[in-house]
Amino acid sequence: MRVSSLLLACVLIPGSAWGQHPRPVLGSAAPPAQVALTPPMGWNSWNFFARRVTDQDIRNAADQLVSTGMKDAGYVYVNIDDTWEGERDAGGELHPNAKFPDMKALADYVHSKGLKLGIYSSPGPRTCAGYAASLGHEVQDAQLYASWGIDYLKYDLCSYREAVMAAEAPADKAAEMRLMIAAYDKMDKALKAAGRPIVYSLCQYGWDAVWEWGPKVGANLWRTTGDIKPNWQSIYSILNQQAGLARYAGPGHWNDPDMLEVGNGNLTLAENRTHFSMWAMLAAPLLAGNDLPNMTPEIRAILTNRDVIAIDQDRLGRQATRAYSDGEVDVWTRHLSGRAMAIAVVNAGPDRFSTHPFHLNLDSLGLKGPQKGKNLWTGDEVTLSNGMPVEIASHDVLLVRIPSPR
Ligand code: GLA
Repeated sequence: MRVSSLLLACVLIPGSAWGQHPRPVLGSAAPPAQVALTPPMGWNSWNFFARRVTDQDIRNAADQLVSTGMKDAGYVYVNIDDTWEGERDAGGELHPNAKFPDMKALADYVHSKGLKLGIYSSPGPRTCAGYAASLGHEVQDAQLYASWGIDYLKYDLCSYREAVMAAEAPADKAAEMRLMIAAYDKMDKALKAAGRPIVYSLCQYGWDAVWEWGPKVGANLWRTTGDIKPNWQSIYSILNQQAGLARYAGPGHWNDPDMLEVGNGNLTLAENRTHFSMWAMLAAPLLAGNDLPNMTPEIRAILTNRDVIAIDQDRLGRQATRAYSDGEVDVWTRHLSGRAMAIAVVNAGPDRFSTHPFHLNLDSLGLKGPQKGKNLWTGDEVTLSNGMPVEIASHDVLLVRIPSPR
């Protein structure tokens, strides 16, 4: 990236172009669980392993979170996604399949590393991958999770839609929404009754304005879109779908633009940087989904950038908004605690000079005069000024924290 000849030296990126609301309690006397006061951070099996995940992969992931420094950087949840489920016994108790011989022992192992264990189910009869799910067994399953020591549940709509919503043939959209909400409320109550603080993650792809009712069913986070893929088109499309959702996020309840693809597929380093920067700007859950044992130093450096993580984890929990777009360049801003501010400038164009020259409009961000800050990818001190030309490589980002914006 280059920012005017005067400021060139201080902002060049080498090698490339460059919350306290308690969880609401509905119908329960239990005190609210103080979980997810900042966006949950951890790792989830799906984006890399998909259906292949095993007990050993989860143990390896826990080991790697510790040895790579990711745990110290804040990644604490180790989440098993779909395909751990076996069948129910005569008493209705669900058993893990052969890939997960002893879930309690696995939880103990993960906990022994100072980490937390997450699991996955669906309100329908079957999960998305076709495994046994929780319909009709919500209380029993929540108790089972608590008995194992589970700390996080991702609850994925899947077959509930056909098995219950379509089968009940709701008269109108409002009746259909009531069925959707009832499914998630049921598991919330079951989790609370089970008596263990468990982060509750809704996955129904952002349907029915889930951000409006998610907190009412105890959700700590809710997916806002369909599944992410490890390519720029998917990531940029999901990013744009978050514009307008900022007011629904806050401590204890977060918009979830899906798990990270950093380090997956053929994403360039610039794309990985932008993906991570923007998920941090969005106060998104930071759930890595990469192959931890084979992580490159560059990917590790992105995932453990403390300054960027601090943006994500800022205690105010105010999600970024898209301030303006100019051609193929988008400018997002986020208010941080201590009256600080973060600015992210994304070049979504196909090449370096696709929007050229791009001039940063600080006036339209409500900022007056030169602004001193830190480039969070180079570590350099920078001074941004109104109208300054900024060049950012294709799909790269300029991410600046301004401690005292004027
Ligand atoms: C859905 C979810 C994904 C993943 C899979 C598992 O597609 O959106 O995140 O959990 O199911 O089957």
